[in-house]
Amino acid sequence: MDAMQSRIAMHNGNQLKLGLFGANCSNGRAMTTAPERWTASWDDCEALAELADAVGIDFMLPIGRWRGYRGATDHQGATLESIAWACGMLARTRRMTVLATVHAPLINPVLAAKQMVTADLIGRGRFGLNIVIGWNDGEFGMFGVKKQAEHDARYAYGQEWIDAILRMWGPEEEFDFLGEYLDLKGLRVKPKPYGGARPLIMNAGSSPTGRAYALRNSDAFFTAVRYASLADAARDAAEVKAAGQLMGRNIGVYTVGEVVCRPTRSEAQDYFHYWTEEAADWGAADYMLGLKGVKRADDPSLYDAKRRALIHGQSGFPMIGTPDDVAGELAQISAAGFDGIGFSFLNYLRELPYFAQEVLPRLRRMGLRESAPGA
Ligand SMILES: Cc1cc2nc3c(=O)[nH]c(=O)nc-3n(C[C@H](O)[C@H](O)[C@H](O)COP(=O)(O)O)c2cc1C
Repeated sequence: MDAMQSRIAMHNGNQLKLGLFGANCSNGRAMTTAPERWTASWDDCEALAELADAVGIDFMLPIGRWRGYRGATDHQGATLESIAWACGMLARTRRMTVLATVHAPLINPVLAAKQMVTADLIGRGRFGLNIVIGWNDGEFGMFGVKKQAEHDARYAYGQEWIDAILRMWGPEEEFDFLGEYLDLKGLRVKPKPYGGARPLIMNAGSSPTGRAYALRNSDAFFTAVRYASLADAARDAAEVKAAGQLMGRNIGVYTVGEVVCRPTRSEAQDYFHYWTEEAADWGAADYMLGLKGVKRADDPSLYDAKRRALIHGQSGFPMIGTPDDVAGELAQISAAGFDGIGFSFLNYLRELPYFAQEVLPRLRRMGLRESAPGA
């Protein structure tokens, strides 16, 4: 779609798109008590948006989170609501795509459609939607939902939700929307998204139903499976793309990770060890595992492995080392067939400058990135 191509950043020529993941939440994605951890204050988010845009980061992906994971830091306990956050970030930037992560079952589709159009107009076509269906009962309880619908019914509702929104974003002046779950009368929703195109849509469902939903509806599919090897990751990325092609859809496949980049490998490893072992927030990891029904009593060694995996990166690729190491890992992720990666730092604002200075030029020399903005 031509109009989609004209939407910058996520449709630019960078072979490997780079995004910052989780910066709207306190602690970001690092379960640590390290005092320099991310607070997600608006001042820091705003400064990060301006820096990321200037150095050529392609997108920012927030987390849709309504209550924290307790522990010593109440991990992700202070979160900036993602559509409102995206509006602010888009107003402060010129190039990059800013997504919002929206819980379909919790946000009325008319309200969501209008809020997202507003964000898209503020960003002149740079808004993206990450649809989440939700899983955390405590979050639904906050919204007065006594019992979540069962898993696949949530996705069926999510289908109607996005179908209704796409129609609201389309050319129709007035229509009724009648589905199994939604009965919306006399919809008149104006203005429309920027430039006659719709915002980019992403999804990260991992169950078979979740993946089928992503294949039907998204432009970008995110997967955070902790792969046994990059070869497994490559197979998975190829399968998603091929399944998309069969449906006539060109789906970008993305993954997630975290970066510690330092002049020497031992500095990077020591720092990673410090925040994931000495300063780890084990209580937050225990709480999150409890929410997912994982119990130590069932299998203590599996429990400890899962707990450590959570602290070490919440299922993402850890990229820990020198600028050459980190650039090399990113090149491998690209070679495995991924179109991009959303990653986090312990403190985004402190660590992005070194990454931009050292890793981005290496990726350019490897042919994975275009020249820097303004170069
Ligand atoms: C990159 C990525 C980002 C995600 N972001 C959120 C989020 O912000 N909020 C949320 O409730 N779930 C989030 N999820 C969870 C997924 O939306 C999904 O529920 C999960 O992968 C389980 O898949 P399923 O819904 O198919 O069972 C994310 C998953 C991934 C891989």
